[in-house]
Amino acid sequence: MSFKAIFKQKPEIIQSANARVNLIGEHTDYTGGFVLPTLLKFKTTIEVNENDEKKYQVYSEYFKEKKIFNDFIKSKNNDWVDYIKGCLFVFFDESKSISNKYLNINISSNIPMERGISSSSALCVGIIKSLNKFFKSHISDKHIAILAQKVERDYIGVSGGIMDQMVSSIGIHRKAFFLDCLNLKYELFDIPKNWKFYLVDSDVQRNLRNSSYNERYSQLKKAEKALSVEYLGSIKLENFNKEKISDPIILKRAKHVITENDRVLKSIEYMKKNKIEEFGNLMIKSHLSYSNDFEASTRGVDLIVKNSIKAGAYGSRLTGGGFGGFTVSLIDENKLDKWLKQMSNIYDINNILEV
Ligand code: GLA
Repeated sequence: MSFKAIFKQKPEIIQSANARVNLIGEHTDYTGGFVLPTLLKFKTTIEVNENDEKKYQVYSEYFKEKKIFNDFIKSKNNDWVDYIKGCLFVFFDESKSISNKYLNINISSNIPMERGISSSSALCVGIIKSLNKFFKSHISDKHIAILAQKVERDYIGVSGGIMDQMVSSIGIHRKAFFLDCLNLKYELFDIPKNWKFYLVDSDVQRNLRNSSYNERYSQLKKAEKALSVEYLGSIKLENFNKEKISDPIILKRAKHVITENDRVLKSIEYMKKNKIEEFGNLMIKSHLSYSNDFEASTRGVDLIVKNSIKAGAYGSRLTGGGFGGFTVSLIDENKLDKWLKQMSNIYDINNILEV
């Protein structure tokens, strides 16, 4: 439904924010490490105008539901509108000087939900950017990312990192976004023209995933404690003192992160030098580490990765928070037809998406 059909007016602001796929560097962001995502074409669009009803009215095309509220208190049962309330709360808290206005907000999206490509970050970044535009607040894109993370961490209560919000707020399609998550310095560079990245959906639902994500998060915090560092990201592979971690599970989790940071740094050089085979090999190693040491994969996902490589991909790995969702594969343009043909013999073509 259009904004006009729902609210009987035209929107004053139209703003969108895109989803992302992480090419390499998983569960490294909240430990002050490195990541290499890129922006996808899928996006969430937010339309806003003011109303004189003295309440907020938000319509979600995905849920086909309109919510009306005039406070920012979180719902007792998880509700999609909490993300919007959280964004409004964080935005007004940040911009204390602006006089509050009541708004009509329409949300539409073509991002596949709960598949590890950051639909929630795109939503939060999109809402905060639209408020920034509406109230002419001049908050920078980097700071918008930080505010969007605050919504998820402090308001919703998910212990995520900053990768998704940063790339959604600043990234560019077909450019790799290298981010140092400790100081938020980033670099955008071109993905070579012949490099094609494709997503394959493992069709695994997310519910289970949040709790496993949080468990991995706390395991890595334990590793930091054992190694007496604030951030695992500060440890180079050659300085990794394994003896300091007595718990074999914690050791495996830390090993994944420390080797993964090393892979991200190498992968950037390979991409810049157009070394597709070497980059692909790092993706394969990254997946093995994510699957064996971090234990964040599933049998179905491992099989997609295997089949993708068999079909001619240079690299393939599970992307995002883990425990299902999408795999991302790297294919040379010349081999794309063969890869697509072989993969669509095994998987539903609707679950194979171009990056
Ligand atoms: C989710 C989180 C990110 C990051 C990834 C794993 O997408 O939102 O911050 O931790 O998982 O790399």
